[in-house]
Amino acid sequence: MDIDLIRKYNVAGPRYTSYPTVPAWEPATYSPEKWRLAVTQCHGPVSLYLHLPYCESLCTFCGCHKRITRNHQVETPYIDALLNEWTMYRSLLPDAPALSDLHLGGGTPSFFSPENLNRLMEGLLRHTSRSPGSEFSFEGHPGNTTAEHLHTLYDHGFRRVSFGVQDYDERVQKAIHRIQPFEQVRAVTEAARAAGYTSVSHDLVFGLPFQQRGGVLDTMRKTISLRPDRIAFYSYAHVPWIKGNGQRGFRDEDIPTGEAKRELYEAGRELLEAAGYREVGMDHFALPGDPLFRAMEEGTLHRNFMGYTTAPSPTLIGLGASAISDSWTAYSQNEKEVEAYLAAVGQGELPVLKGHFLSDEDLRFRRRILDLMCRFGTELEDEESLAKLRPLEEDGLVVCDDRTVRVTDRGRPFVRNVCMAIDRRLADTGQKLYSATI
Ligand SMILES: C[S@@+](CC[C@H](N)C(=O)[O-])C[C@H]1O[C@@H](n2cnc3c(N)ncnc32)[C@H](O)[C@@H]1O
Ligand code: SF4
Repeated sequence: MDIDLIRKYNVAGPRYTSYPTVPAWEPATYSPEKWRLAVTQCHGPVSLYLHLPYCESLCTFCGCHKRITRNHQVETPYIDALLNEWTMYRSLLPDAPALSDLHLGGGTPSFFSPENLNRLMEGLLRHTSRSPGSEFSFEGHPGNTTAEHLHTLYDHGFRRVSFGVQDYDERVQKAIHRIQPFEQVRAVTEAARAAGYTSVSHDLVFGLPFQQRGGVLDTMRKTISLRPDRIAFYSYAHVPWIKGNGQRGFRDEDIPTGEAKRELYEAGRELLEAAGYREVGMDHFALPGDPLFRAMEEGTLHRNFMGYTTAPSPTLIGLGASAISDSWTAYSQNEKEVEAYLAAVGQGELPVLKGHFLSDEDLRFRRRILDLMCRFGTELEDEESLAKLRPLEEDGLVVCDDRTVRVTDRGRPFVRNVCMAIDRRLADTGQKLYSATI
């Protein structure tokens, strides 16, 4: 491990699920009218994301947009709003939409009853076709995903499910307020396979409070024993200034940072690679037969607001509170609060809050950042960017010639820093808005 490099490069920085990143969006470029017009110009397959924000219990590490409640009366009006919002988008899209992929994320999609998810999918798919090779997936909480959830969504074409696991160490589980025994994860993983799901993914997180090497190794061994097709091994994003009290269930001193944090990742990675998993992009692992791995090998891996994906559809429509849409030349984010979202849809309006229209320069840099995040290299002919990369080249993180930049093996853990060096919009945002890069 390059301790000196970790000390030098462990700064606050974006995860680059978009370029420009959300805090760098320029409000003056955007208006709801312009966004509607941009949607009318989106041709071809559509990638659809539905945000289902509810969870029954708060995990104190969580950085997602969620609403904690045990009141399941909230389900019906929310599903009505999603269906109405989709109807509005369908009327704007120039072609009858064919889905390249559909993802239910959250919050917790499995908070919703199978009956309500069935109604949602019937309504969504009634006027919508699927393009060849399309993939439907959802995020399930191991604590409330039932066989009925799995079968209901399977019947609508879902074949991929990801389960939030995080960590099996009891002390960590207590600190993050998420008690979740291995047996529960084993049972739901086996149930998904028995129901016919062909790709099961587990989400793990490194850098959580009280996490230690031994515990991470134990979590990894348990995970490997269930042989998930994919594993997301996320860097804990500690952003308490955004999420308020939610993340304050532990003290800052309890969180491993810098080299201690990176060591947790390396420990997990070694075990995964020894077990036949391959690293994909920045924080994912997959078995060699998995489409995510194949996409990396074939150079078609893509990254969007949901992370790494195999479906590089230029149009992403995000439905639901806080969801982000992307027409390739523009981004648009929905109202973040559920009440504001429901009120806007109730009035027959697109529930948009803010967005950004990309300039020609943004579009060029978007391509470069995507290349770096997905392929660890890009074409780059402008002097200014190359000059900014020189210090990273001196540290052995990248190799540049006058047309290209390639991230070295040594530089891979610092790929976010490489992107930051060429990011033309970062200076506008103030880095305090981001979590640490390591
Ligand atoms: C929407 S949740 C998954 C579904 C379900 N809500 C659950 O928790 O099982 C998405 C995933 O994001 C990851 N995540 C949430 N907050 C995070 C944070 N602050 N840093 C890194 N990863 C985080 C977790 O691994 C979590 O499983
Ligand atoms: S980790 Fe999942 S269940 Fe926990 S609060 Fe976040 S979205 Fe909800």
